Amino acid sequence: MRKPLIAANWKMNLLSHDIKEFLHGLVLDSSKLVDISVFPPAVYIQQTRDALYGTQVHWGLQNVYSHLTGAFTGETSPLMARDLGCSYVIVGHSERRILFKESDENVAAKFCAVVDQLMNPILCVGETLEQRDNGDTMAVVSKQISTVLNIAGSVRLKSFTVAYEPVWAIGTGKTATPKQAQEVHAMIRKLLLSYGEDVAEKTRILYGGSVNSGNVDSLMNQADIDGGLVGSASLDLGEFQSICSIVR
Ligand code: PGA
Repeated sequence: MRKPLIAANWKMNLLSHDIKEFLHGLVLDSSKLVDISVFPPAVYIQQTRDALYGTQVHWGLQNVYSHLTGAFTGETSPLMARDLGCSYVIVGHSERRILFKESDENVAAKFCAVVDQLMNPILCVGETLEQRDNGDTMAVVSKQISTVLNIAGSVRLKSFTVAYEPVWAIGTGKTATPKQAQEVHAMIRKLLLSYGEDVAEKTRILYGGSVNSGNVDSLMNQADIDGGLVGSASLDLGEFQSICSIVR
């Protein structure tokens, strides 16, 4: 039985006083039935750690670089993420793939660096509307996943998460229907099976793309949806708490 994970991806939003209030409310509400993790902008990771240390709520980074130290102005190291107690790191979010031109190989290098620092990468994959309309969804998503997992190699596949986030559903208010999402999640589960029964059984597959308190229940009722990566709806504490209590 996979424990659900609800992840709040705040992207480049919220200031320190907003984060302080949000985390205070969230800690009071957390429980053991669902894993909750927040992903603040990197500059607020220390503040987030200080607020959440010793609670049941996890925290992580929205992105890292693939090297541990060195002359990489402006980047954040996986070593620093680990030093500040991150449990998870998001890799390959579509905004990074599209706006910052990250390739599957770049994403694979980050995935490996995160695993090697004993954190759990959340590997984001998903098709554009054009790719869906052309009937390429399964091929696109399979390639995004298999390129990364093949480069990582079986020793690195003990603890990671996949997030299926159709690009056309992110920040648009258009969610995939539970049936559309489940079709892709089932395909991902089958693909994971080729890396071992254990990998397929243990790995959580999150859905992301306009998740909110109105649609999370029907999405979570699908056999292969193990949680949500929530963007816009995670910026409001009340809305995020509702999502978490519905999943709980
Ligand atoms: P959204 O973002 O919930 O605003 O669609 C999800 C994400 O990009 O992770």
